[in-house]
Amino acid sequence: MSESAIRIVTEIPGPGSQAIVARREAATPQGAAKLTGLAIERGEGSRVEDVDGNRFIDMAGGIGVLAVGHCPEGVSRAMIEQADKLIHMCAIVGSYELYVQVAERLNAITPGDFEKKTLLVNTGAEAVEAAVGLARVHSGRQGVVVFEGAYHGRSNLTMSMTSKFSLFKKGFGPFAPEVYRFPFPYNYRRPAGMSEEQFVEEQIQRLSECFVSVVDPSHVAAVVVEPVQGEGGFLPAPASWLVRLREICDEHGIVLIADEVQSGMGRTGELFAMEHSGVIPDMVTTAKSLAAGMPLGAVVGRAEIMDSAHPGGLGGTYSGNPLACAAALEAMDTIATPEFLARAREVGVQMRERMEKLAERFPKMVGDVRGLGPMLAMEIVQDGDPLKPCMETTAAITAETLIRGVITIRAGLYSNCVRFLPPLNISDADLREAMDVVEEAVAAVAARRAEA
Ligand SMILES: Cc1ncc(COP(=O)(O)O)c(C=O)c1O
Repeated sequence: MSESAIRIVTEIPGPGSQAIVARREAATPQGAAKLTGLAIERGEGSRVEDVDGNRFIDMAGGIGVLAVGHCPEGVSRAMIEQADKLIHMCAIVGSYELYVQVAERLNAITPGDFEKKTLLVNTGAEAVEAAVGLARVHSGRQGVVVFEGAYHGRSNLTMSMTSKFSLFKKGFGPFAPEVYRFPFPYNYRRPAGMSEEQFVEEQIQRLSECFVSVVDPSHVAAVVVEPVQGEGGFLPAPASWLVRLREICDEHGIVLIADEVQSGMGRTGELFAMEHSGVIPDMVTTAKSLAAGMPLGAVVGRAEIMDSAHPGGLGGTYSGNPLACAAALEAMDTIATPEFLARAREVGVQMRERMEKLAERFPKMVGDVRGLGPMLAMEIVQDGDPLKPCMETTAAITAETLIRGVITIRAGLYSNCVRFLPPLNISDADLREAMDVVEEAVAAVAARRAEA
């Protein structure tokens, strides 16, 4: 590919994209939303090309699915070879070695030096739902503790566990019972005058209080926590808060489930985000980058919890499909190496530096730069006020990056964060070019705001 990654040859979206999107709108429901008007033809590494021949740098990575980039050679090759041998069997009907290999690999690389077992499913939501079910059977209890700002998926249980009502849940009730919501430490929005340390202390205190005021611990099967909230706006859970959560779970026999669907598989510069805190969960859910874009999710957990369901209680027609397993083994071969994780951390350092410069230059607009490793977001506000989230400006920034050739997407309880989920093996040159565009886009929006 040429020197410059970005190549814009039409208006954005171009005529070809517009035509396909118009057909999409006619043929599919509006509820299945789209964040850009692009129709994409092909992808390679951190770049995608649309049907009009425009080339973009993809800083959304299929919403955090493409840690190893678009169409990595090893993954494509493994899938093509597998497609010639066996596309589907159904693990309920017969076993195949790839399925076992993925489970063995996940058991080996997931935190915790206890005996583990892995359940393969198709999506993140399915993984979370299965993990909660297993924790319930294991504990004989029903309650599930989740947090403000959480996102766990769109099945009925996981939507019930998800926090943001207007975007995800409106009109879809009734929701599943026995879901109890606790506060999550949103440091940027802490009360004025309170230090970060005081705030974390207060939040630790709130945890204990909630186990009195919201639900009794003896009723709780599982606490499900994202070590870095994804849809919630890339909020890292403070390590000391996670430590306290672990202690409470230990005191009361509660299963601690880390939902690492978005934060896992190298996204934070460690294989799993929980590794930053040293806290070992009893179960981990993973999906997204696990299979480089193929639909595969997994629950990895303590063997005694994983074995608590009766034979036949778990499974699905496509769970652990051979093509997805072939892709996952290749993806894990790449991601679970010190070199890959070191590069991911370096990408994080470079992105953070650029974003912090933006926050210095536009302090009234870029209120916060945060995340863990390369899982980074900028929170967009008005007048530099943490309590004035600005969704419109955020949408304007992502629209500006797009017309300049960089795909970015939003997140956040208030839809006011620009989040970055690039391939973690993105080159220095592509990263620099992408962040130059982000800078131009923020500057353009700031100039418009100043004029208004
Ligand atoms: C933390 C978390 N859990 C669960 C899910 C649901 O995953 P899926 O969309 O594969 O069902 C997501 C998706 O974004 C997620 O970020």
